[in-house]
Amino acid sequence: MTETDNHTNSNSITQTDSTDHRQASQENSHQSEMVLVLDYGSQFSMLITRRIRELNIYSELVPWDVDPRLLSYNNIKAIILSGGPASVYDESAPDLPEWVLETDIPILGICYGMQILAQKLGGTVSPADNREYGHALIETNSREQKLFKNLPNSLPVWMSHGDQLTELPSDFKVIAKSQNAPIAAISDSKDRYGIQFHPEVAHTPQGTDILKNFLFDIAECSGNWTASSFVEDIITEIRNTVGNQKVICALSGGVDSAVAATLVHKAIGDQLTCIFVDNALLRHGEPERVVSTFREHMEINLLHTDAKNQFLENLQAISDPEQKRKIIGETFIRVFEQESLNLGDIDFIVQGTTYPDVVESASSGSGSTVKIKTHHNVGGLPEDMHFQLIEPLRNLFKDEVRKVGIELGLPEEMVFRQPFPGPGLAIRIIGEVTEEKLDILRKADWIVMDEIKNADIYYDLWQSFAVLTDTKTVGVQGDHRTYGYCIALRCVTAEDAMTADWAKLPYDLLGTISSRIVNEVPQVNRIVYDVTSKPPGTIEWE
Ligand code: XMP
Repeated sequence: MTETDNHTNSNSITQTDSTDHRQASQENSHQSEMVLVLDYGSQFSMLITRRIRELNIYSELVPWDVDPRLLSYNNIKAIILSGGPASVYDESAPDLPEWVLETDIPILGICYGMQILAQKLGGTVSPADNREYGHALIETNSREQKLFKNLPNSLPVWMSHGDQLTELPSDFKVIAKSQNAPIAAISDSKDRYGIQFHPEVAHTPQGTDILKNFLFDIAECSGNWTASSFVEDIITEIRNTVGNQKVICALSGGVDSAVAATLVHKAIGDQLTCIFVDNALLRHGEPERVVSTFREHMEINLLHTDAKNQFLENLQAISDPEQKRKIIGETFIRVFEQESLNLGDIDFIVQGTTYPDVVESASSGSGSTVKIKTHHNVGGLPEDMHFQLIEPLRNLFKDEVRKVGIELGLPEEMVFRQPFPGPGLAIRIIGEVTEEKLDILRKADWIVMDEIKNADIYYDLWQSFAVLTDTKTVGVQGDHRTYGYCIALRCVTAEDAMTADWAKLPYDLLGTISSRIVNEVPQVNRIVYDVTSKPPGTIEWE
């Protein structure tokens, strides 16, 4: 997805599961091109979708047994069958649906995807005498084959299979072999292809070229899905869905809600009201930044609700992390509910749900439907609040959300900021949350951010922050004994927050942060650096 060109594609902004009365029930039927990836459970399935989108072609990952009637696209240009852990001859092996076999859309089966395709069409799959895991070399005849067009005859690839195709279905021919797999790639005259290796992983260096050949040459995709095309199309869709009704959106200051709100605002202007709840648990200067960005810079209707006292009162004497989270969530709901009641009749609520949340909760093997978790509510809004959901980002990955944010003119600082948890500083204060402790942590946290930015590594780190421990230690400052708080510094690198590594910060930088905090925050006299990865630790301390 690039940020420049113009084109036509569209994405669902509303969910189509008719069992949920809260969802906007517009049936979206999209004309623009897309590539469907049927998921057979490979750890690389999502990566296939990403690789396709990197080529500016819109793609979705769906369970292999998706009900095709639920697919709201009528211009599917290609179907890719992912790999998967099963063996096609297992009794409960995932199947290849008849509707896929009946279409004349080009198909590419990868690993298990090739095996199930071949088996369904009359070929034979057997346990391999020589399993292949890891690097392999395939020999192709690129002159004859569109799939390997412009590629050398000998290609390094990544294999990961215990079964192999031993007999071809009729009408198919072998188009590549490896030392251990005499049938490493196949094709027929109807643009159906199978490859035993994984083109989506970095270990197959020419994998993207192979996907390009399949998508552009064979499936004739045009590759016109871009940030600006997304914005243009989604705005039209939001307008059609909302009409002249009213919409609210809870702004947290994070990138997802910021981009979602801005998109909706571009579409319907003053019909949108954003609610920003100051819960007393935010970083230094955050409320002011949110208000100035949205109210002044973006000219969005923004209610800035000061609920600091309510949150602090409810958190009094609470030190259990889970209880803190629960109280913060519930207090937010009460405040949000009151504010939205004050606004009168509201029809829709905007949420910044993104694609990984949607895919994570899609289920397979259950028979038919794409079951999509409904993030019914902002942390559990009461059932009697009958909002319909608008989720403009539900088909985008985080980096795509960021590209859309830039396209919309949001400040880079907001678009690329590090994640900040909903319960805020409360889960970075060990033990009871008090105003005094929040004040100490906010000062220390600001110094950390300042020095990390000065060192020009803010964007290299997934997160960098201070934690106020409940430990006090003895120190000495200016010949006096001190008894002050110990602050822990937490800096991690990560691809996503599922795993993380502690960041190997330069000693000099650690030294600067340490001396600035003890000098500038009088209640603190000791700094420690957290050298725990995730797992076994989590990123946050609570
Ligand atoms: P952990 O601590 O579980 O955090 O490794 C993983 C990522 O999630 C963020 N986080 C939260 N975000 N509400 C949020 O919106 C929460 O309750 C919450 N807890 C953790 C955390 O900052 C990290 O990026």
